[in-house]
Amino acid sequence: MLDITFVKSALPKSGALALLIAEDANSPTRAALDAADAATDGAISRALKVAEFTGKKGQLATILAPGAGLTRVVAVGLGKLADATVKSVEDAGGTAVAALGRDATAALATCGLTGAQAASAALGAALRRYRFDRYRTKEKAEDKPKLVKLSVLTDELARAKAGWVDGRAVAEGVFLARDLVSEPPNVLHPVEMAERCKKLTALGLKVEVLGPKDMLKLGFGALMGVAQGSTAEPRMVVMTWNGAGPKSKAKPLAFIGKGVTFDTGGISIKPAGGMEEMKFDMAGAGAVIGLMAALAGRKAKVDVVGLVGLVENMPSGNAQRPGDVVTSYSGQTIEVINTDAEGRLVLADVLWYCQQKFDPRFMVDLATLTGAMIVALGHEYAGFFANDDAISDQLHEAGKSSGELAWRMPLSEGYEKAIKSDIADMKNVGGRPAGAITAAAFIQRFVNGKPWAHLDIAGTAWAYSDQPTVPKGATGWGVRLLDRMVADNFEK
Ligand code: BES
Ligand code: MN
Ligand code: ZN
Repeated sequence: MLDITFVKSALPKSGALALLIAEDANSPTRAALDAADAATDGAISRALKVAEFTGKKGQLATILAPGAGLTRVVAVGLGKLADATVKSVEDAGGTAVAALGRDATAALATCGLTGAQAASAALGAALRRYRFDRYRTKEKAEDKPKLVKLSVLTDELARAKAGWVDGRAVAEGVFLARDLVSEPPNVLHPVEMAERCKKLTALGLKVEVLGPKDMLKLGFGALMGVAQGSTAEPRMVVMTWNGAGPKSKAKPLAFIGKGVTFDTGGISIKPAGGMEEMKFDMAGAGAVIGLMAALAGRKAKVDVVGLVGLVENMPSGNAQRPGDVVTSYSGQTIEVINTDAEGRLVLADVLWYCQQKFDPRFMVDLATLTGAMIVALGHEYAGFFANDDAISDQLHEAGKSSGELAWRMPLSEGYEKAIKSDIADMKNVGGRPAGAITAAAFIQRFVNGKPWAHLDIAGTAWAYSDQPTVPKGATGWGVRLLDRMVADNFEK
């Protein structure tokens, strides 16, 4: 994690300086620019003029060695100050950090912004600076990013510092999710993933791990059917955060994640090309684990349970076959037509367990569930399904403020016939049309009427190119969205 400190606005004497500048003429965000410009005899304003930098949103200009001991000045446009959102300020912080270059320390000037906005800029900067370095043993020093320390210059020191206490905890949660998704599938099998969950007890979470014996005894026929083809043992992990205090009588909120540590497709095997991407098929579980870390890290005043179903989907002599019928924990039987539609089988048992055991206020599940979701919405929005309008509104709003956008998709009686089986209560695929919707229709049969939403994050769990606050790779998508949803609706 980038080492971030906040200091009263003052021009640094050396190193790199990033300036967040609004488009408005005479905006107070120009104070640091004016100071640096005076110290460099107008070199910065001359360069910005040539670069046609006006402060438009997303604009970026870099000035090398302008004088006054500065190695470089990076100017990032914020757009009109009155239009600035949490996301646009975070994006500016991230864009600035990506342009800061080769100095180990740098300053980020947020003059003219509020303390809360300074904290948002810091969060954006931290999120963009993430890198998964565990398996690089030979990278040359000059190829490694150097920035380790960022001082954020702010007019509202106390508020900025306070905002960053929570921001930092959320960033830690996002990084945990990104680390888990980045890990190769030979390392991060279900047992190892459960071990990583156990480490969260250090944050004050209660962590309970169930193994195959427990799950067979409970009757998790759907999850265990997926797991049986792999020599890696499955796990279910239940993480509990009690932050509401002893007087609270409210039921917990519940988050459930699909944790397929590798999805070969099973006997309905996937094509070889690109199959390595399927290490990310535990991103739903990764997001739930990261969310629990974030909530505990910032001591959220709410009771929450996080459950993840962890399996590996492999073909083998012991793998389940197309045509098998399994009995889920709910008692409902499922004809497995395609062993590659495994995520819904895992979620079926974990969701049923969750509502039985915790009677939660609501359940939200996250899963890299269908390629069809990517066809529908691409990589900009995740799609979600909900049986409850209040949850739907909360997700949509939290999406806008966190920048992790989510769009509601329909659930409707008409889709049910697609998953009708000739010999069991349902089958696990509904054919090509509306593949993301029929998958959601399947999952809905295991929520037992509880308020529920299902987020299909197949398109958003991985970034194929750099974004302002997300470097290429695992995004940790969902941690920020759900942290916002909880903070804005359930901690008041
Ligand atoms: N994990 C995949 C979904 C997926 C596919 C995510 C491609 C990201 C990119 C899931 O388990 C799966 O294989 N789904 C099948 C369902 C089909 C067999 C009904 C799919 O989407 O092709
Ligand atoms: Mn699959
Ligand atoms: Zn899958």
